[in-house]
Amino acid sequence: SPTPVGVTPMMGFNDWARFTCSAQARLDGSTAGYSFQQFMEDQAKAMSDTGLVAAGYTNLTVDDCWMQRNSSGYLHGAATWGGSSQPGFDYELTDYADYLHSLGMQAGVYSTSGVNTCQGVAAGVMGHEQADADSLAYWGIDSLKLDNCGTTTSNRQAEFGTMANALKTATANTSRKILFNESAPAGYSPTDPEKYNSLDWVRGLGQMWRVSPDIAVWHPDPASAWDWPHGSDYYEGGVYQNFTDTVALARYDGPGNHNDADQLLIGDNDQLTLAEQRSQFALWSAMGSPLMLSTDVRKMAADPVGYAPQLAILKNSDVIAVDQDPLGAGGYLASRGNSSATAGIDVVVKPLSGGREAVAVLNKNASATGYTLNLANLGYGNTGCARTVRDLWTHTNQSVTAALSTTIASHDTAMYTIDPGSCGAAVPTGQIQAP
Ligand code: GLA
Repeated sequence: SPTPVGVTPMMGFNDWARFTCSAQARLDGSTAGYSFQQFMEDQAKAMSDTGLVAAGYTNLTVDDCWMQRNSSGYLHGAATWGGSSQPGFDYELTDYADYLHSLGMQAGVYSTSGVNTCQGVAAGVMGHEQADADSLAYWGIDSLKLDNCGTTTSNRQAEFGTMANALKTATANTSRKILFNESAPAGYSPTDPEKYNSLDWVRGLGQMWRVSPDIAVWHPDPASAWDWPHGSDYYEGGVYQNFTDTVALARYDGPGNHNDADQLLIGDNDQLTLAEQRSQFALWSAMGSPLMLSTDVRKMAADPVGYAPQLAILKNSDVIAVDQDPLGAGGYLASRGNSSATAGIDVVVKPLSGGREAVAVLNKNASATGYTLNLANLGYGNTGCARTVRDLWTHTNQSVTAALSTTIASHDTAMYTIDPGSCGAAVPTGQIQAP
């Protein structure tokens, strides 16, 4: 039987957070004749040239506005890019998918369960599910991100179920399967019980799903972002908010089932400091979230020396290995910085294969903060027995019997793996989770 898709969290590129549907220029500033498709192919080539493909970032997903529907009801590439005079995509995406495949990548596309996409493009799958799934399979598309804008039924379970079945039917006799990426749970706030009902059914239909708002920034107002669950600021997607919303749902993760905290703002982005970019990468990996870059990879490829710090974060193989660990367990919040003992510090623990675990320690404070990783607090008994603690930023191992002290810069995240060897695994210390 064919290799199942989406067993480990997706890694790759999505244009949305960084570029939305706005037509872009070439790196030299020219725009004439520069198409949406060429732009995506340029990002793909840059992913390959920077070594990001080799590091595992193989999916390239084109988000909203790539498509149109003709008068016979068939899906095809949009003639123009975001309402500009620049071209969109080829009518059929076969050559596009072939190009990505030639780079060792997979081609992902976006649609919505309703009629209009979130940007108002009247080409959602509603009423065209099987024909669209057949088109994607025929072109050689590898994944579908299905949003839930423009719905007319408000029965998301039925809508997503229909599309999941259409994708299965379309690929029943093909060697290439189509990964199903669902946005359904993101529409519900963390205080809405329907969110948890939707998490139960999306798991059976697809491999990954959005659970939090659209990511945009670190957070404009850290003070209000520290509270959880969120109130009226719910739709203000930020790194901390998406992290807290997603980490509370760790129990829904497993091999082939991944909560998606949304795209990475790492690289050519001015919204996050380098420490915050490191934190987003550490937290997303510690949760087992998909790792989808939304940045101008073309610029990183053109100036790999200038972007060396960002590329080093993205290619950190120790951190990637935590995200991609075959156990597939979600990382959970073991403690949260709202008591005097842990002020401003959040600790995420992700069980790993081989009885190991990963620990990410976020400093939310505006200044550097001391932290002591205390093995007993993490549930390790047998005090005095030496465990191997690896610092995933310096790639160095230490033998730790009781505790390890460090200082974490403002908004930075320390990250470790703990290998208990023959000392015995940790007894989980409990987790902070959504109801
Ligand atoms: C929604 C999704 C985003 C993106 C846009 C496109 O807001 O959550 O990730 O796909 O739609 O319009």
